[in-house]
Amino acid sequence: MIKIKKNIPLIDQHDKNYMYGGKFGGNFIPETLKKPVEDLTKLFQELRRDRKFLNQRDYYFDNYVGAPTPFVKLQNLTRHLGGAQIWAKVVSDANGGAHKIYNATVHCLIAKKAGKKYIVGDTGAGYAGKMLSMAAKKFGLKCKIFMGAKDIKRQKPNVDAMRKNGAEIVPVYSGSQTLVEAVSECMRYWVSNCDTTHMCVGSTVGPNIFIKICAWSTAQISRELKIQLTNVFGKIPKKVKLINCVGGGSSAMGFWNEFMDYTSKQIEFIGVEAGGPKNSKLHAAPLTNNSKVGILHGAKQYVIQNKEGQISETESISAGLDYPGISPLHCFLKDAKRARYTSATDEEALQAFQLVTKLEDISPSLEPSHAFAEAIKIAPRSSTETIIIVNSCGDSLKDKFIIKKRLGSYIR
Ligand SMILES: Cc1ncc(COP(=O)(O)O)c(C=O)c1O
Repeated sequence: MIKIKKNIPLIDQHDKNYMYGGKFGGNFIPETLKKPVEDLTKLFQELRRDRKFLNQRDYYFDNYVGAPTPFVKLQNLTRHLGGAQIWAKVVSDANGGAHKIYNATVHCLIAKKAGKKYIVGDTGAGYAGKMLSMAAKKFGLKCKIFMGAKDIKRQKPNVDAMRKNGAEIVPVYSGSQTLVEAVSECMRYWVSNCDTTHMCVGSTVGPNIFIKICAWSTAQISRELKIQLTNVFGKIPKKVKLINCVGGGSSAMGFWNEFMDYTSKQIEFIGVEAGGPKNSKLHAAPLTNNSKVGILHGAKQYVIQNKEGQISETESISAGLDYPGISPLHCFLKDAKRARYTSATDEEALQAFQLVTKLEDISPSLEPSHAFAEAIKIAPRSSTETIIIVNSCGDSLKDKFIIKKRLGSYIR
C-alpha cells in the first residue's frame, strides 16, 4: 500500500526518478528538454528557499492577486439542503476570476529570474491563458497561448481577455481540439524555443518541475483557508469535507495541500471529475472510472485510453475539466486512499449552478459547479456538525453562452 509521509511536502515525496509512490510522475521527455528542465528544477529549488523571492511572491499574492480570497457560509444553501453546513472558499474573487492566477504569477516571477523575455502556456477553459496573459503584461513578458480550436469557440470571453492583454493565441486543430492537444503543442513549441522562452504548464501536470511549481503556487489557497477556519471556529473543526473539481488537479492540490497531515477522518478530500453528458459513454474522469496507467505529457498517470493504449476521446461541458489525464499527485493520493474521487455529469453540474446562483451571491463556473453537485448530494446525509467547504475556484462569466444555451437564460 502506498503511504503519504508526514511533515514532508507532498510535491517532494518522489524518488530519484521523480516518481510518486514508485508509480506516478517522472520526466518522460525528449533529450533536448533534459537540460532546460534540469536548469528550471535547479532554479526553482533555489528560489523556494530564498527569503527575498518568497517575500516577492507574497507581495504579489497580496497586492496583485488579492489574497486572501473570501471564506463564506452559504446559509441559504445549508438551510435548503439540511444536514451539513456548507461553506465556500471564493477563489473566483482572485484577480482575473480563478485560481490559475497563482501559478501564472509565480511562473512570470521565475521567468524574470531566468532572464527570459518570452513566456508560453496552454489553456483549456481559457483561465490559465487569461491569467498568464495578464501576468505577462504586468511583468513585461511577451506571451503566446496554445488553445484547442473547440475551446476557443466555447470560451470566448476568456479568449477576448487574452487578446486584450496582448497575447498571441495559437489555435490547435489536431485531435479533439481541446486542452490535451493544447498542452502537447505548447510543449512541442518549447522544445524548439527553450533558450529564449519560459514555459508555464497550466495545471499540476507535465514533467515533474511543472507539477511542483503549480502545486506550490496554488497552495496559497489552503494556507489562507487554514487561518480562516481557525478564525471562524477557534480551531480546525473535527469533521471537514473539502470538495474540489479536478481537471489536471491544480486547484484541488492548492485547496488540500496544507491539510495533508490531518487524518482523513478529520479532513476528508473529495475530488470531483467530469462525468460528461448523462447518457454518454464519454467522460473526463480517469480516477472515477479506474483508467489504466499510461504516459501523457511527460508523466505516468491514470489516463483514459483504449485497449491499445491510445489516449481516448473525452467529453465534458466544462472545458477546464475536459482532459484525459490527471496529475500524478492525485494518482498518488488516490492509491494512498487519502482522497476520494467521484464524478458529476454535465446535467448535475448545470443543476448545481442553477441552485447555487438562485440561493447565494456567488456564481461558480462550470468546473466548480461539478464540486457543488457533489456537495448537494452529500450534505443532506451528513451531520449538522460536518463542515463542507467547496472551492468555488472560477467565475461563471466565461460560461455565459454555454449556460444560456443549456438553461435558456444566464443569471449570475
Ligand atoms: C475555473 C477552473 N476550475 C478548474 C479547472 C481545472 O483545472 P485544475 O484541475 O488544474 O484546477 C480549470 C481549468 O481550466 C478552471 O479554469
